[in-house]
Amino acid sequence: MRIFSGIQPTGGKTFGNLSGGFRQYVATQDQGEAFFCIVDLHSITIEYDPRELRESTLDLAAMLFATGLDPHRSTVFVQSHNPDHAQAAWLLGAVTSFGELRRMTQFKDKSEAHEFVSSGLFQYPVLMAADILLYQTDVVPVGEDQRQHVELTRDVAERFNARFGTLFRLPRGQYPSAGARIMDLTDPERKMSTSTSSEMGKILILDPPEAIRRKVMAAVTDSGREVRRSPEKPGISNLIEIMAVATGRSPEAIEGEYADGGYGRFKAAVAEAVIACLEPIAARYRQLRSDPAELERLLANGAAKARLVSAPTLQAMYQAMGFARLPD
Ligand code: AMP
Ligand code: TRP
Repeated sequence: MRIFSGIQPTGGKTFGNLSGGFRQYVATQDQGEAFFCIVDLHSITIEYDPRELRESTLDLAAMLFATGLDPHRSTVFVQSHNPDHAQAAWLLGAVTSFGELRRMTQFKDKSEAHEFVSSGLFQYPVLMAADILLYQTDVVPVGEDQRQHVELTRDVAERFNARFGTLFRLPRGQYPSAGARIMDLTDPERKMSTSTSSEMGKILILDPPEAIRRKVMAAVTDSGREVRRSPEKPGISNLIEIMAVATGRSPEAIEGEYADGGYGRFKAAVAEAVIACLEPIAARYRQLRSDPAELERLLANGAAKARLVSAPTLQAMYQAMGFARLPD
């Protein structure tokens, strides 16, 4: 079984990324041949600082290994180190419609939030489809926010197969059972996000313990005092999900223990559980990040391994689409 996922090297990664991203990557790396890609080409689709991109890429590489990816089992690499992605994205543009891209909610949300809307932001899902399809992927572990992009990838693959002959395997998204969508602490109707959440709205994986305590204790809760999930209690429901991810316990067990103790006691317990979950990750991260040459060596190996798998798919795409090819 082939597994592929991508993550952007922008800003501080959040507890939501740990839940929908990193934690799932580690769980899937034993189930097959796994590829995890630092998608730097995606990061230039919104305003970014070119002086920070290289460091953010190494930060994220260190975080991927710190959260448990094993370079011997998983292929971890940087998207721009394998030129096949950009080429495949251009080819797939021929079988992706303007109408489908315009309907993507991530495009709608991000284009409203920025004054300059780049054409890259619009084409973003086509590049993501290329990432996935080049590796003949079966499973894509992601958070709930990526569901629409994974569905689009399937549609694009089906259209390519129907028009040019069957070439792509059809991938399916895999979403975690708890914590597929961690919400903003100050506004639990929106997802916790590196780019759009305020400082108090997001828990960063590298936040010091005092910051985590402060943010969790200040999190918006709801009226009443019962610790139980319900659509009328988005704040408390979110804290229960966070606790479930941090401890590996079921939401039901957490409700059983804290239902009657009041919000204050529960929040204090959530903060300590999150701190205990993040501390060892932060320690491993600091150790790995202190040796950039070693990270670059691991990424170079990853890119070489990735290209061996993507190159035959790209060549088959050119062939199927009827391009004149030069003799080898
Ligand atoms: P990104 O940082 O946008 O590249 O996201 C990397 C991964 O984290 C993707 O699989 C996302 O679906 C996942 N993710 C991001 N935010 C959240 C969230 N608030 N809850 C759960 N998963 C998330
Ligand atoms: N769009 C994804 C996100 O923002 C990142 C991504 C890019 C991705 N390419 C991918 C995820 C391929 C899964 C598979 O989270």
